[in-house]
Amino acid sequence: MTVKVIYTVINLFIVLYILPESFAFDSYDVRNYLSTRTPYRFKFNRDDSRLKFNGCKDAMVWMIIRHGTRLPSAKDIIAMNSTLKDIKYEILNVQKRKKGVLTKEQLKQFKAWSSVIDIEQEKFLTHEGQHEMILLAERMQNRFPNAIRNKYSNKTHQFRYTATQRAQQSARYFTIGLFDKRDAQNVTFLPAKKIDPVLRFYKHCDKWQKQVKKNPDTYKEQKLFGVSSQMNDTLKSISNRLGLDKIMNLDSVDLMYKTCGYETAWSKHHVSPWCYPFDGNSAENLEYYHDLKHYWMDGYGHNLTYRQACMAIKTMFEIFKTKKDPFATFLFAHSGTLLKILSHLHLYKPQTPLTGHAVNKERRWKTSDIDCFAANLAFVLYRCKDGDHVLTLHQERVIKLPMCAKELCPLQKLEEHFHDSIHNCDYSNMCSLDKDSSS
Ligand SMILES: *[C@@H]1O[C@H](CO)[C@@H](O)[C@H](O)[C@H]1NC(C)=O
Ligand SMILES: *[C@@H]1O[C@H](CO)[C@@H](O)[C@H](O)[C@H]1NC(C)=O
Ligand SMILES: *[C@@H]1O[C@H](CO)[C@@H](O)[C@H](O)[C@H]1NC(C)=O
Ligand SMILES: *[C@@H]1O[C@H](CO)[C@@H](O)[C@H](O)[C@H]1NC(C)=O
Ligand SMILES: *[C@@H]1O[C@H](CO)[C@@H](O)[C@H](O)[C@H]1NC(C)=O
Repeated sequence: MTVKVIYTVINLFIVLYILPESFAFDSYDVRNYLSTRTPYRFKFNRDDSRLKFNGCKDAMVWMIIRHGTRLPSAKDIIAMNSTLKDIKYEILNVQKRKKGVLTKEQLKQFKAWSSVIDIEQEKFLTHEGQHEMILLAERMQNRFPNAIRNKYSNKTHQFRYTATQRAQQSARYFTIGLFDKRDAQNVTFLPAKKIDPVLRFYKHCDKWQKQVKKNPDTYKEQKLFGVSSQMNDTLKSISNRLGLDKIMNLDSVDLMYKTCGYETAWSKHHVSPWCYPFDGNSAENLEYYHDLKHYWMDGYGHNLTYRQACMAIKTMFEIFKTKKDPFATFLFAHSGTLLKILSHLHLYKPQTPLTGHAVNKERRWKTSDIDCFAANLAFVLYRCKDGDHVLTLHQERVIKLPMCAKELCPLQKLEEHFHDSIHNCDYSNMCSLDKDSSS
């Protein structure tokens, strides 16, 4: 048998036997709708062959990475150990009267379910998150062996993370993927900053905090969708599937949805019973509910939200200009950082603003695709016979930036387009409340 045939047979085996069939009920796959809790193993690009261009050499990489799969927040850990436990007993109780659509096997899994997460470990990186980072690093190195050397030196590599366990550990495991053990232990990381205007520019941008984050208007469309007839139908359908007598509220269903996402992300082999209550339609509606929030808070909803991402983007242009080849920069940050940068680059912008009236099925702004765990964006500088060019990759796939004619884009063209991002990116001007610059 050829390698290809063997591969196909193995894949068939995986599809038929390893993937639990309960994942794919109703001819939809809940794993496509997990929003920001989507694990990276559903999204990465398997093809890690070297990316070569005629007359060009990969010279530098600047990459920003959302931390890998993590544990829930303290608030969600507590809710899982209280509200969700109560729901579990309700589900088991009504099943005695043989209501709902759950199978015996699924009920057994509900019975066995418990949540034992130490609250001290809120938002910690998980094992799956560690693997995501190691494998991502290996693939990136395979694609760009000249720009990303496998021998460590602080002259050729730079690593930086936010002052959080999940970002710090993500950086650590990424270096384990790049280097051998002894080198990996020798890596120096730039000191993490409590106030980090590059990796978390929004966190201390007072104007953004006031005008966007803490502004009730930001959540208007999400709230609207939360009480829409579509959402009410979803709550009804889920309660019916579970055979409950009353209709669950959105908070409870949202908690089930998030737990389905987390537990799917944490384990490759175990199916979370909290995914069973969802059918294709209801999973899609919950995903949209979360997409709406991120659109208005981290995306195109407000000008300042993505304008401030110049703080991160301009460092890429600076490094490409000032550092010697080869040089690779790896920044470990958060969902909020990545989404704002994607918007700064005019990527995944929906044709019209997302509203709470109905699910926008044509939207490109789908957090399940663009903002999963370990979501990442890389710029690769190529030295070419006809000048410097930049290749952009999102989720390890080459993408074409809207302002470029081709994937491999002249650096000068990008510098012209992002002139303001590079030269007129004044944090205090942009972010202080007493300066009334246009927003
Ligand atoms: C879960 O809640 C129970 C009380 O209902 C408490 O005793 C236990 O410590 C909690 N477990 C965790 C892991 O938080
Ligand atoms: C790189 O490491 C050397 C030796 O440890 C040190 O002297 C130097 O300051 C470091 N350079 C940077 C840019 O961190
Ligand atoms: C680790 O770094 C030190 C100085 O920065 C260097 O002397 C030593 O050779 C390095 N070790 C390895 C295994 O590369
Ligand atoms: C959906 O349910 C909520 C809460 O019961 C209610 O306030 C709202 O009016 C309902 N929406 C529609 C469109 O019926
Ligand atoms: C956002 O603000 C900048 C600076 O004020 C302005 O140049 C730009 O046109 C604005 N963009 C949008 C979409 O309003």
